[in-house]
Amino acid sequence: MEREEPAHPAAADGSTGTEPPAVATPSGEPAAPVAPDPQAVDRGRRELSTWLWRLPVLAAAGAAAYGVWQAYAIHFAKDAPDPNPEFEPLADADVAPLSAFSEVWDGVDFMASGVPCVAVRVPAPVPGGLDIGVGVHLVAFSRVCTHLSCIVELNRDTEAVAFAFNHRSDRPSLTCACHFSVFDPLRAGRAVSGPAVRPLPRARLRLEGDLGDDPRIVCDGLERTS
Ligand code: FES
Repeated sequence: MEREEPAHPAAADGSTGTEPPAVATPSGEPAAPVAPDPQAVDRGRRELSTWLWRLPVLAAAGAAAYGVWQAYAIHFAKDAPDPNPEFEPLADADVAPLSAFSEVWDGVDFMASGVPCVAVRVPAPVPGGLDIGVGVHLVAFSRVCTHLSCIVELNRDTEAVAFAFNHRSDRPSLTCACHFSVFDPLRAGRAVSGPAVRPLPRARLRLEGDLGDDPRIVCDGLERTS
């Protein structure tokens, strides 16, 4: 009758197959199995537990370094607006007649392809703005805050800005009430206070009509941002 082979070769001698391998002695007798060195096992466990304790410390150190970098960027490394902005073309959006900007710091809110924007008359030319040959300088910005996308407002009350936003300036600012970021229209929308780091994207304006006929101001582009 044919003898049935054990499923595992180690099962032939009654072992389970999981014991350490037996080493044959010179006389051919099987030697006792070699047990693992308990000190080596302990050493391995100690090294593993040492690294496990280091992980939270490394994670905390990384988070602290990131926080320090963010604080540095917020206070000392805000992005400068591009002196030669490039604009993504938009469908024409009517802003207002030129007469709506009769005084410096007059501002008009408008929508450009679904983006809330504001056009402001400023006292001097701003890169990316519209200069009209009668000493009128306009510039427009997206009102979507570059911090977390709340809507900024043109704030002409410099004392209120100094008190509520902790930013003193001699001119109006674009302010975000969510986390108190302040942007300077005369510096091309640069973030000057608060957690925002990037400037407000500019909106491109053009004049539509003759100066003698109270021409319209139209928006036809939004600044490309990386
Ligand atoms: S969303 Fe404007 S400051 Fe945070």
